[in-house]
Amino acid sequence: MDVTVVGSCMTDLVSYAPRQPKPGETIHGTNFQIGFGGKGANQCVMAAKLGAKTAMVTKVGDDSFGKNYIQNFKDHNINIDHVGVTADASTGVAPITVSDDGQNSIVIVAGANMLLSEQDVAAAEHLIMTSKVILCQLEIPVQSTLTALNIAKKRGVKSIFNPAPAQEGLPSELYSDCDIFCANESEAEILTGEKVSSIEDAKAAALTLLNKGCNSVVLTLGELGSVYVSQTEQEPQVVPCPKVIPVDTTGAGDAFLGALAYYLALYPKMTVLEALTRSSRLASISVQAKGTQTSFPSRKQLPSDLFQ
Ligand code: RIB
Repeated sequence: MDVTVVGSCMTDLVSYAPRQPKPGETIHGTNFQIGFGGKGANQCVMAAKLGAKTAMVTKVGDDSFGKNYIQNFKDHNINIDHVGVTADASTGVAPITVSDDGQNSIVIVAGANMLLSEQDVAAAEHLIMTSKVILCQLEIPVQSTLTALNIAKKRGVKSIFNPAPAQEGLPSELYSDCDIFCANESEAEILTGEKVSSIEDAKAAALTLLNKGCNSVVLTLGELGSVYVSQTEQEPQVVPCPKVIPVDTTGAGDAFLGALAYYLALYPKMTVLEALTRSSRLASISVQAKGTQTSFPSRKQLPSDLFQ
């Protein structure tokens, strides 16, 4: 495999509304869509749409959402040897509200994803060790994510860890066992306790994360681009993002991560900064269309310079 994702899949229940409701308020929406989401699966689908050979290690419920999701993986040629089905929980769902400015708010009910056990991940050891890159997030149990990163480290497989949704008190190995630790501004705030509302804040927070033992840190800032630091390059580098008018930002971070995994796997000589620049371009394309995976561009729709 080029890219294996050990992570979540969710059915996105997306309401479009003029603005986000205030606490206790009911507002009229304008449109509703059901789609395929979940940070893990989104990242995997992005890598697959770019042409990577991909596999998913995940768990769905024994229900129609789960059946449809497995078909979605097949439709994208994603290997499903380690996609489990459980009768003990429903397939994960994510009610999402997207406002007219393209911003979203999301509640996840992770369901079957939380039953992806350390044993399930250990059973995928051969798949993980024969992959070029693995990607993990936090929509499955923390210990299962840790098991995947431990295997990757032990077997010399490149890994990207996206601590999303962020939670305080993560085991220190989650910082040290991945090659790239990639968080957005709100996740970085939770993990560092520092406010992140500018590029300068992001540089400081990225260094705080680096000091927690990360090998390298990418901190994404939406339209402001991203900041990169590593143990060998401790001066933070800023990677700008193309300016676009967002329609729906849901999954933009996942498009970025799936693209980054694709470039690391298939362009091993490319610098990380170049891979980040190209991944930002791809994420900025995804925010210009509605939906999560449906907004991710596929290789044939993209300019050839992204693949040179
Ligand atoms: O990152 C976006 C994703 O977060 C959505 O697809 C939703 O399912 C949640 O997992």
